[in-house]
Amino acid sequence: MAHYDYAGTSVFVAGGTSGINLGIADAFARAGAKVAVMSRSTERVDAAVRQLSRHGRKTLGHAGDVRDIDQVRAAMQVAHDAHGPFDVLVSGAAGNFLCPALDLSPNGFKVVIDIDLIGTFHVMRAGFDFARRPGASFINISAPQSVSPAPMQVHVCAAKAGLDQIMRVLALEWGEHGVRVNSIMPGPIEGTEGLSRLLTETERPQFESRVPMRRVGQKEDVANMALFLGSPLASYVTGALIPVDGGVSLLGGRNYAGTPAPTPRD
Ligand code: HXC
Ligand code: NAP
Repeated sequence: MAHYDYAGTSVFVAGGTSGINLGIADAFARAGAKVAVMSRSTERVDAAVRQLSRHGRKTLGHAGDVRDIDQVRAAMQVAHDAHGPFDVLVSGAAGNFLCPALDLSPNGFKVVIDIDLIGTFHVMRAGFDFARRPGASFINISAPQSVSPAPMQVHVCAAKAGLDQIMRVLALEWGEHGVRVNSIMPGPIEGTEGLSRLLTETERPQFESRVPMRRVGQKEDVANMALFLGSPLASYVTGALIPVDGGVSLLGGRNYAGTPAPTPRD
């Protein structure tokens, strides 16, 4: 449920065409915002725009890859021209797969760094030029891997820890411009690509029994935090990594990942 009326505001969600990020985009649209989304697949962009439009607000989408800052800028220019300066900017594009470090190719490591870490810098840096200043709220989507090392996740742990340091440095540098920068750290979220890549349905009951709140999260749990961070209720919150994870990040990586120990190479 929205705690703030977002009517007239402009929201841009990078990677906002699926899963948690689409849930965030949907919550802002429902709360009255003009929402723009961007991701690689034109089909996904079109489907997301159809879904978001149902709330009756101005909505648009633009295909693009966060690994290319020119594509990020092009998508933002379209959104800025149609909806005005961004009041809220979300950077949520990410890639993940389980792979022991000994089996991970240099390119397999690099692809996740390129999307999650460098892509986040592109979105934040380009977004600054299109943001309402003062007043904008920038939100990165992190993961428990940022703070808890997890087997088979060396690429994701490095990328998410790095993007949270980007968040902290930008909070330091951009406070004087009236731009707040924070990260949300979702735990395992029901019905998402991310969770399905980390946990099988068979593993799930045992995993949930270890979660302090005894359940996986819902997309709405994450979206509600984004609504809070985007609003004046959070006007003194910047540089924060905020878990929305039912306490999962307190467990340490080997427990939350729901994964067996890495398989040694022959
Ligand atoms: C080992 C793999 C691999 C796998 C890809 N690679 N999948 N290595 N195990 N399962 C390697 C490839 O062999 C290749 O290296 C390199 O990675 C690049 O692969 P491409 O397929 O060419 O990359 P690309 O088409 O750009 O796709 C990116 C991707 C893909 C990350 C690999 O999975 C993707 O698009 N993912 C987006 C959706 C997603 O992952 N959603 C989950 C987000 S959840 P070589 O050496 O062969 O060239 C999340 C955290 C969740 O981020 C946390 C939950 C708690
Ligand atoms: P998802 O459904 O796979 O969503 C990823 C989104 O990013 C898609 O819209 C995808 O669309 C887009 N994307 C991927 N690569 C991109 C690129 N290079 N350029 C632009 N867009 C790109 O994933 P999810 O599970 O909901 O996860 C969403 C976010 O939450 C991620 O940041 C993830 O790390 C984080 N997270 C998830 C969980 C979980 O339980 N799922 C837990 C903790 C953190 P295209 O394919 O069209 O590009």
